Amino acid sequence: IGQYIHYEESVHSTQKIAHRIAQEGAKEGTVVVAEEQTAGRGRLDRAWYSPKYTGAWMSIILRPSIPPQQAPQLTLLSAVAVVQAIQEVTNLSPDIKWPNDVLLNGKKLVGILTEMQADFDRIHSVIIGIGINVNQQETDFNEQIKHIATSLRIEKGEEINRAALMQAFFLKLETLYEEYLKNGFGLIKVLWETYAISIGKRIIARTMTANIEGFAKGITDEGVLLIEDDEGVIHRIHSADIELSA
Ligand code: BTN
Repeated sequence: IGQYIHYEESVHSTQKIAHRIAQEGAKEGTVVVAEEQTAGRGRLDRAWYSPKYTGAWMSIILRPSIPPQQAPQLTLLSAVAVVQAIQEVTNLSPDIKWPNDVLLNGKKLVGILTEMQADFDRIHSVIIGIGINVNQQETDFNEQIKHIATSLRIEKGEEINRAALMQAFFLKLETLYEEYLKNGFGLIKVLWETYAISIGKRIIARTMTANIEGFAKGITDEGVLLIEDDEGVIHRIHSADIELSA
């Protein structure tokens, strides 16, 4: 992973480029990196703020032979890799927040967006988009996000070498990906649960239709969050915003 790097100064979104070159046959492990994204995208069609020379904005092309329903596992795997890389390079220990945010001191540090090109039963490619806030300063964040976002530089109090961080990330990602292809999701799931703040705690999950409060037991192999409420009923949460309950 990271053997072929497609580097750009400024792009709309590295995801878009990765989709295009994946369609044109780019090899597995190809990475698209940009200094700036003018239309960075997040989940749920949100914008992802990606100013120049401050972050690690990248999209990784994978071509795993797994059923398309298992692709979400790669999002969880990527979160583990990014946490490990950040620990190694900065000594900071970010938390994972289900489904796929990486936080430091409760503020968002990393966003992950996984998309795939697939037929009914076969994956052509999985595009993992990762944005790491690396060297932004407080003044670089606008009013809207400054209370909810942070960067490694803000947390560490010094500038971080972005290339070293990306390199560490590609290595961790490759190691975990090889483990995953060989032995399945088991170890990745255990690692994910150790880095996840919510697991083993009381939380509230706000879904489209209800608020569910209870004990976060863990995740399934599909990445579904399991919450046990006070009556002992287990709820399977596919999509929600979660909060630790008071
Ligand atoms: C989220 O938390 O909503 C996911 C954010 C993902 C952002 C990354 S930055 C690199 C890649 N290109 C994009 O346009 N988005 C992803």
